[in-house]
Amino acid sequence: MILSIESSCDDSSIAITRLSDTQLLFHKKISQDAEHAQYGGVVPELAARLHAVTLPKILEEAKPYFNELKAIAVTNEPGLSVTLVEGVSMAKALSVALGLPLLGINHLKGHICSLFIEGETRFPLDVLLVSGGHTQLLHVKSLEEIKLLATTMDDSFGESFDKVGKMLGLPYPAGPLIEAYAKKGDPNRFNFTIPLQGTSTKLLAFSYSGLKNQVRLCIEAQENLDEQTIYDICASFQRVAVAHLMQKVKRAYKERSMEHFGVVGGASANLYLRGELEAFCASKKAKLHTAKMEFCSDNAAMIGRCAVEAYAQKAFVSLADLKVRSSSKDIFY
Ligand code: KG4
Ligand code: ZN
Repeated sequence: MILSIESSCDDSSIAITRLSDTQLLFHKKISQDAEHAQYGGVVPELAARLHAVTLPKILEEAKPYFNELKAIAVTNEPGLSVTLVEGVSMAKALSVALGLPLLGINHLKGHICSLFIEGETRFPLDVLLVSGGHTQLLHVKSLEEIKLLATTMDDSFGESFDKVGKMLGLPYPAGPLIEAYAKKGDPNRFNFTIPLQGTSTKLLAFSYSGLKNQVRLCIEAQENLDEQTIYDICASFQRVAVAHLMQKVKRAYKERSMEHFGVVGGASANLYLRGELEAFCASKKAKLHTAKMEFCSDNAAMIGRCAVEAYAQKAFVSLADLKVRSSSKDIFY
């Protein structure tokens, strides 16, 4: 079995995954949403202090599995360095105490593996990764060979939901609430424009800061920000945010064939986005792969699943070489 730890942002999570058949034997996650909500976003220092309390609590519950462990895996990049350090320090301590090898896992590869929890991996695979920190279109030949097809030039898809939510006075993280409000709103009441139109339409990149500003100006222009107007803003914003993603995805695969397409990351829980991707994949006669809802946002089960692959590759790392890195820009080519 492998014990895996995730602490890259504001979720403390530990999982136990069986090596022989990738079965998830234990999984627990404690989120810090309530603690960060009053600040409208994640406060790294606060997140790190909370991990220092919650990770040991979860570890207590995983103790019955200690005798059967073969390795300790931990997210070491990318993420908030002060929070990553909490998980990595715990992993190093466990490795020394239990005499087990260490595996450093890339968080983004973990999200890709959320599609394969308790199942076989399936490559090659094209992946749209939409989270609070990333918006990336990836061609995954294998976990060792990942090509970055497009990324964001500024804010990420999930982050834009959080920022629009903050402007509307909604609690952090606002993604799920904006999706719920959008269901009650008119998606065509506000005519926000799709980002990166006009001269740069050929550019295979995403941008959300302009759309965020359009929403800000729209909110400021409202004399009466009543309930229905908030619902309509959410619906109009979500329609355009997803239309931007879809426009780029369609462009990327216009001349590229693709049989299997996956969507991962916290924002992949959005059912409106999933519906648009379903229709797109059907038009390409491709299969859409999605993670179970509980494994879309950050969790240690996806890190454990990724670690099963790393264990098979014997990709162990020494105590001194396991380093925390806030960015993984040079990982995906
Ligand atoms: O993957 P994740 O848990 O953390 C990062 O690695 O960033 O993603 C969290 C992000 C937040 O920005 C949150 O607002 C967004 O995912 N999110 C959503 C939805 N559920 C979560 N965004 C849009 N619609 C949703 N239903
Ligand atoms: Zn994540």
